[in-house]
Amino acid sequence: MERWTGRVALITGASVGIGSALARRLVQHGMKVIGCARNVQQIQALADELKNEKGSLTAIKCDLTKEEDILDMFAKVKAEFGGVDVCVNNAGLAHNAPILSGETQQWREMLDVNVLGLSICSREAVKQMREKVDDGHLILINSMSGHRVLNSSPGHFYTATKFMVTALTECLRQELNEVKSHIRVTGISPGVVQTEFQQRMFKDKSKADAICSAFKTLEADNVVDAIIYVIGTPGHVQVHDILLRPTEQTT
Ligand SMILES: NC(=O)c1ccc[n+]([C@@H]2O[C@H](COP(=O)([O-])OP(=O)(O)OC[C@H]3O[C@@H](n4cnc5c(N)ncnc54)[C@H](OP(=O)(O)O)[C@@H]3O)[C@@H](O)[C@H]2O)c1
Repeated sequence: MERWTGRVALITGASVGIGSALARRLVQHGMKVIGCARNVQQIQALADELKNEKGSLTAIKCDLTKEEDILDMFAKVKAEFGGVDVCVNNAGLAHNAPILSGETQQWREMLDVNVLGLSICSREAVKQMREKVDDGHLILINSMSGHRVLNSSPGHFYTATKFMVTALTECLRQELNEVKSHIRVTGISPGVVQTEFQQRMFKDKSKADAICSAFKTLEADNVVDAIIYVIGTPGHVQVHDILLRPTEQTT
């Protein structure tokens, strides 16, 4: 991790959950972290808490469903930090929106954030990385849902967006290879993680609690450990994807 000390990481969805836990860890490793989300006050509160750590956290308000917000954010990162070195596409959401009965607007939001936001951020990040040392790292937070279809209709559309993330991981690898870039791309595919994700999906605390108490789920820090491993590998090593389940998760 030493080579990333003093360098710039952008994390989408840094207000809560995996993104927030990762922001904390990267700041402790001495990185200049930019965290974005809509609820920017939560990132600012974390930044205040971390102000005596080795690195720094800067909060930027960005709604990933709006391309202009994303482009403004990258312009700011370029102007204030000289460009991004590690980009973690973490923001994501699910709605309970089956294919036969879901609302189009809910599908659109999942596509906008999980697929288009991730793709726009990846494109803009690679532009900035290539203007720098060309040794950056793109992390795509995927899901076990990007690798198999559960017989559970509430999550079907979400699953379809995450299958796209699986394809995008390989597409990005190929395109970076084609231009002989040393930038690496890695997917991280967790099973159930204890965050606000389930509650946001079902808008029902007892349902979210039931999912998260059926077995010992992953904690955000378990996912962060995998990301720290991936970006800490030497430049000639590309980890393609890490699938990590809670041990007792059967699916
Ligand atoms: N938790 C799980 O069981 C699980 C399992 C597998 C994969 N994942 C994946 O892990 C990633 C992180 O999820 P999490 O578990 O940490 O969920 P979470 O606690 O619900 O956090 C989601 C993050 O995404 C951000 N976000 C959502 N919509 C956004 C938008 N329009 N613009 C900007 N930011 C937006 C949220 O910020 P604001 O609301 O403040 O904007 C929040 O910071 C997601 O990609 C998810 O698909 C989660």
